[in-house]
Amino acid sequence: MKRLKLLALSGSLRRASYNTYAIKALKMLAPSHVNITIGKIEELPLFNLDREYDDIPALAELKSELKQSSGLIIASPEYAHGIGGPMKNALDWLVSGDEFPYKPIMLINTSPRASHAQQALIEVLTTMSGNVIEASRVSIPLLSSDLDVDGIVEDPEIANALLIGLDTFCSVIVKNQTDSG
Ligand SMILES: Cc1cc2nc3c(=O)[nH]c(=O)nc-3n(C[C@H](O)[C@H](O)[C@H](O)COP(=O)(O)O)c2cc1C
Repeated sequence: MKRLKLLALSGSLRRASYNTYAIKALKMLAPSHVNITIGKIEELPLFNLDREYDDIPALAELKSELKQSSGLIIASPEYAHGIGGPMKNALDWLVSGDEFPYKPIMLINTSPRASHAQQALIEVLTTMSGNVIEASRVSIPLLSSDLDVDGIVEDPEIANALLIGLDTFCSVIVKNQTDSG
C-alpha cells in the first residue's frame, strides 16, 4: 500500500465541535498507511492583503503542512447559511499561494441539512483551483447526536461512511498520481 499523508482542517473552534470530532475520529479510523495531520487555523489573524508578506508562523505552518500533503480534508459548519468565518479566513490566506491549486479535497458535512455552506464551500474551493473529489464527499448526521470522537469511532454506520469516503479519496489520489507518472 502506498503511504499517503493528508491534512485535515476543522472549520469550528468550539471545544465540543462535531466537525473537529469527525476529523479526529477519521484520523483514528484511518488505515496505517494513511497519515492524517490535523491542521490549526485558529491562530491565523484575520485576512489582510497588506500582511501578505508578513512573517505569520501559523500561516507558514499551515502552508507547509498543505504542501507536504497529498490531499486536504475539510469539515466545516454552516452559520446563517454561509461558510463559517474561521474556514473562510483560512482559505482567503491560501488563495494566493502555490500550495492549494489542484489539491484533491474531501469534504465532510456533519449536518446533512446544512446544504448552503457546502455548496458555497465547493464554489470557493473550485474557484481556488482545488480539486473537490465529489465521490468522496461524506454527509453524517452528527448534529444533536451527542457523539464524541470515541462515539463516532464506535458507531458502525457513521464510522463506515467516513471510511468509505476516505477510501474513495485515497484511491482517487493514488490513481491521479499514477496517471501523472
Ligand atoms: C449562530 C449560529 C448559526 C447557525 N446557522 C445554521 C444554519 O444556517 N444552517 C444550519 O444547518 N445550521 C446552523 N447552525 C448550526 C451549526 O452549524 C451547528 O451547531 C454545528 O454543529 C456547528 O459546528 P460544530 O459542532 O463543529 O461547532 C448555526 C449555529 C449557530 C450557533
